[in-house]
Amino acid sequence: MIKLEHVDKYFGDLHVLKDVNLEVAEGEKLVIIGPSGSGKSTTVRCMNFLEEPTSGHVYIDGQELTNKNKTRIVRDNMSMVFQQFNLYPHMTVLKNLTLAPMKLHHKTKAEAEELAYHYLEVVGLRDKADVYPPQLSGGQQQRIAIARALCAQTKIILFDEPTSALDPETIQEVLDVMVKLAHEKNITMVVVTHEMGFARNVADRIVFMADGQIIEEGTPEHFFTNPKNERVRQFLSKIVR
Ligand SMILES: Nc1ncnc2c1ncn2[C@@H]1O[C@H](COP(=O)(O)OP(=O)(O)OP(=O)(O)O)[C@@H](O)[C@H]1O
Ligand SMILES: [Mg+2]
Repeated sequence: MIKLEHVDKYFGDLHVLKDVNLEVAEGEKLVIIGPSGSGKSTTVRCMNFLEEPTSGHVYIDGQELTNKNKTRIVRDNMSMVFQQFNLYPHMTVLKNLTLAPMKLHHKTKAEAEELAYHYLEVVGLRDKADVYPPQLSGGQQQRIAIARALCAQTKIILFDEPTSALDPETIQEVLDVMVKLAHEKNITMVVVTHEMGFARNVADRIVFMADGQIIEEGTPEHFFTNPKNERVRQFLSKIVR
């Protein structure tokens, strides 16, 4: 469903991704972990061309992503949930959820609202349709952002540290929603997270990045029982959760 082939990324002189090769299968739940600055966000952002690779190729469902076709391919195939929820504060929750389906996915207002209420139900916030995002807790805002991603009804959802801006007491409610999504066989999820409980329970596969490279990948069992690389061992031993 997603393929990165020999992806390199420079920011000026800074070599941030070094020959990253990664395939994500349809329906797979992939978790990316690794130290700060190792290139996790950049990798995910290259998947939807929020960052254009300096060299290499990105394929989505068999089609190569280019500057020319990225708007269409990304719109039709992928949505993203960010650390900072990126909701419009001056629009109601319902408006936040119906905007893209109406503008980008050619839904009527009625169709878009039906979708919105459906996914609000999924994230447990149906009663918040008419409030404004600043009136919600961080955890609630992130669940709304997830509902918004679901309203696009794409096969792929990318998550970049969706819980790391949240108060500890609201992290779990967001993780619960993500676990629920992970049970959907046909959704492909790529999740950058430091939540090792989530990684252990939900990931089909974990990749570990360091210095712009994937230095180890495997099942959760492999990672949590017998990681090969010393840097992975050190990282995991330092992480509390
Ligand atoms: N837009 C940018 N311009 C210049 N440098 C950038 C830019 N975005 C990222 N970088 C640099 O690229 C490197 C990789 O950053 P990236 O955000 O991918 O790391 P990360 O693994 O997601 O880290 P974190 O866990 O802190 O989110 C870092 O050294 C970062 O400073
Ligand atoms: Mg990051």
